[in-house]
Amino acid sequence: MAFILALDQGTSSSRSIVFDERGRIVAMAQREFRQIYPQPGWVEHDPEEIWSSQLATAQEALVKAGITARELRAIGITNQRETTVVWDRRTGRAIHNAIVWQDRRAEPLCAQLREQGHGDTFLQSTGLRVDAYFSGTKVRWILDHVEGAHAAAARGELAFGTVDSWLLWKLTGGRVHATDVSNAARTMMFDIRHNRWDHQLLGLLRVPDSVLPQVHPSAHVFGETEPALLGAAVPVAGMAGDQQSALFGQACFRAGLAKNTYGTGCFMLMHTGGRFQTSANGLITTSAAQADARPQFAFEGSVFIGGAVVQWLRDGLRAIQSSSEVQALAESVPDAGGVMLVPAFTGLGAPYWDADARGTIVGLTRGSTVAHIARAALESIAFQSAALLQAMSKDAVAAGSTPVSELRVDGGACVNNLLMQFQADLLGIPVQRPQVIETTALGAAYLAGLATGVWRSLDELEAQWQVERSFLPTMPRERAQDLMAQWERAVRQARAA
Ligand code: G3P
Repeated sequence: MAFILALDQGTSSSRSIVFDERGRIVAMAQREFRQIYPQPGWVEHDPEEIWSSQLATAQEALVKAGITARELRAIGITNQRETTVVWDRRTGRAIHNAIVWQDRRAEPLCAQLREQGHGDTFLQSTGLRVDAYFSGTKVRWILDHVEGAHAAAARGELAFGTVDSWLLWKLTGGRVHATDVSNAARTMMFDIRHNRWDHQLLGLLRVPDSVLPQVHPSAHVFGETEPALLGAAVPVAGMAGDQQSALFGQACFRAGLAKNTYGTGCFMLMHTGGRFQTSANGLITTSAAQADARPQFAFEGSVFIGGAVVQWLRDGLRAIQSSSEVQALAESVPDAGGVMLVPAFTGLGAPYWDADARGTIVGLTRGSTVAHIARAALESIAFQSAALLQAMSKDAVAAGSTPVSELRVDGGACVNNLLMQFQADLLGIPVQRPQVIETTALGAAYLAGLATGVWRSLDELEAQWQVERSFLPTMPRERAQDLMAQWERAVRQARAA
């Protein structure tokens, strides 16, 4: 039996999962680490904690699986994306805390780039809107604010990486400084059509190319681990940003296949094949994980408040004591009774892109209860996701393809059957929940296994991917369309709020 270790370095915890050659989970370990909030709107991680928590879970997962590192064919890395680390190549120490993807400190620089009219230049090369979310302006911020950093970078002494690169560097004992296309695609410095760093954009950002990692396909033997770390040298043979890794782990290898990950927020990606296209409906374009050198693309949209709305019911409204109670409370009423809740607590992401929108509840009557609000909160996750899928389908049709015909789901909240059924009802297409919902880690394992011959083709992986439960739409389409129209009206109120 061949085993693969997937390292899943997320925003709130580091996890390691051992998979066997049939894609089944053998063992798993997880550790949370510190979130650092130096001031409002800023979010940092300590890069050394990212590394130590990841290494500890890798070692623990091997022990739990009852195997040694010698029995591993490969390691795959998947990671929180955009989070930016800059380190000293000689000492291997970061020169600043990691600036996390959620951090907004680079917004003034982004506003300046937009005002100078560079938005379209970035879009046409990177597929991204100019936004503080992405790595480029975070690197620049670090170079501007750490004394002597610009000069050290010019002398070639500094390295920049997203979390995959940082872990690879540590795992290989500082021998390899590289990343994969799907992570590079999130930096706002990478030309995703031609898979190369874009020197014009680097110039606009004042980031020197001396700090950049080498970019490879996502399935690639990037290097071997230092033997002392896990007990043997193991090839690191797959890397992908977590959302693209989940798309891969859902076996969405072809244009038109889409997945939605229901976490704190929701991330929906639809594979669009080998041709670069931009969205006319508020989505961003990104590189999909690549099994070989050929560029592959996806549309992406994110919902900022997904499962987090359940936390708000618990901690803000005190409507429930634990998150697991939400389904029972929501199910205690047949529907939301006309109540719509738009959880625009931090503005709205795609397809609305409105940073100033605020949370809104509409449709309250004397008969409304906390159960209706809980149901509306749960349904808001599905409404926001449906708006994204509609945008994707519109773009697909405009490009001459067919609309999305099924949605594959993963992430913590996909275990909620009520939510999944409502999602299928709104969309009018089947919602497919796979047997392995740890698809983010599975994607990284698939990539590493492809690069090392555990699996030979995408067809083989496609055959392995199995549905656990299909949620088929049962609601009449007119009713679903009516609900979507009500949702859009509520969104307009949230945007006016
Ligand atoms: O783009 C951010 C995303 O990659 C973060 O994912 O699962 O770590 O919150 P997660």
